[in-house]
Amino acid sequence: MQFSFSAASAVPSGALVVGVLEGTNLLVAAARADTDTGGAVKRALAASRFTGTAGQLVEILMPAGLKVSRLLVVGLGRPEKFDAHAAEMAAATALGKVLSTNETEIAFAIDTPKGVKLKGPVLAAHLMMGAKLKSYAFNQYRTKDLDDHKLRLAKVTVMTGDLAAAKKAWAPLEAVSDGVFLARDLVNEPPNVLYPAEFARRAKTLSTLGLKVTVLGVAEMKKLGMNALLGVGQGSERESQLVVIQWHGGKKKDAPVCFVGKGVCFDSGGLSLKSGSGMMGMKGDMGGGAAVIGTMRALAARKAKVNAVGVIGLVENMPDGGAQRPDDVVTSMSGQTIEVLNTDAEGRLVLADALWYAQREFKPKFVIDLATLTGAIVTALGNEHAGLFSNDDKLAQRLADAGKKVREKLWRLPLGSAYDKLLRSKIADMKNIGGSAAGSITAAQFLQRFIDKTAWAHLDIAGVGWQDGEQKLLIPSWGTGFGVRLLDRLVADHYEG
Ligand code: BES
Ligand code: MN
Ligand code: ZN
Repeated sequence: MQFSFSAASAVPSGALVVGVLEGTNLLVAAARADTDTGGAVKRALAASRFTGTAGQLVEILMPAGLKVSRLLVVGLGRPEKFDAHAAEMAAATALGKVLSTNETEIAFAIDTPKGVKLKGPVLAAHLMMGAKLKSYAFNQYRTKDLDDHKLRLAKVTVMTGDLAAAKKAWAPLEAVSDGVFLARDLVNEPPNVLYPAEFARRAKTLSTLGLKVTVLGVAEMKKLGMNALLGVGQGSERESQLVVIQWHGGKKKDAPVCFVGKGVCFDSGGLSLKSGSGMMGMKGDMGGGAAVIGTMRALAARKAKVNAVGVIGLVENMPDGGAQRPDDVVTSMSGQTIEVLNTDAEGRLVLADALWYAQREFKPKFVIDLATLTGAIVTALGNEHAGLFSNDDKLAQRLADAGKKVREKLWRLPLGSAYDKLLRSKIADMKNIGGSAAGSITAAQFLQRFIDKTAWAHLDIAGVGWQDGEQKLLIPSWGTGFGVRLLDRLVADHYEG
């Protein structure tokens, strides 16, 4: 699909999208369409009880002979509430409608409405962002019923009064959308295709963007003493990997920001085997790693003025004769010993070594880990918020604020020594499960034992990394790409320049 801007004076063809704010008259482009059709637009809106509420959409087929074949009138909501996100939602609403038609072109003519703070070029860029995010599809494994899924739409145009400024505003958003797409692709890929070495191979292709990508295999990780991570992967035919991605866009001596991702390419539970239904979807257990690689891609593509490093621990958690047993004790890279009482609490074992490695190797300004870590966070927060845990109030606040802006929302949960005590083991430094109470918190407490005086935040994204139920408007696939927009926003707001 091709995405471009055109001058407001251009004559659009195909589907044309115009907008109406709640409680106001037709904006310029909408009024013009009304005149062109002898008042059909106003009649259609009245007949549809259209009021301009956000999310409303009226579709009008145009008479033969006009260049515009179809007019889509979208509600933009209240003027004072119309922001970047509202623009994205409006564009996604219209694009979603057109995707299932035979239209090959769509043009947006949503003028900067009066009483709206958003500047024209920024509005145009966010319309493009909404259209782009909505255009995502993952269809490469379909060979049948292609007609239902085929995207005929080939060209998306956003009309704007200031072409140069719109393009400039779009460039970083485009970089971010490509990062989101990469993350979605990785989460959607089936686990027989996307195993640790394949994930690592795809990471390496990012070197064309100026990223430095290195991969450690089992032998190298053994040398470093990463037995917590390696224990998880030892029951799999697929070799465990540690991917390290570096971006140098800041000052030479500046400590990097650091993102660490859980990359469990498939989580069967290991010998503490999951149930059949509990195992379904566990190809997405690398969603944290996907967010990290997507973020690094975004930062590189928009040439962010920051030093950043992403570390992803990649394993497959499987139960064969060589698999880790419940009751095993492993020595982590940090030297701390762990009694593995449940092989299904594997993410924290992977992160223990990845976090330790990241701090030792890079002395980062802060480290943020992302992980589909616990079912308990889904019980607590559902699919609306990711869990946020942190030892640093400032970092936590910055993350929560960034999340609000890009609608990747976070909710902070507590840490504390009373929870930490639940991890005491009868024979080792700690056990890898707490108990039935506060499952997401004891998992976070476990991770904190591998944080060495570094500002740290942990995002438990088990409820938001993929969506099984109702589809969100800007997210048309199973994998959401959650985390990419959030981390990019955090960096852009606080850690550049
Ligand atoms: N990958 C799962 C967590 C998960 C569950 C993600 C549901 C998405 C949806 C994780 O490795 C896991 O199995 N956690 C266990 C921990 C328990 C054994 C302490 C869980 O949540 O049941
Ligand atoms: Mn598990
Ligand atoms: Zn897992």
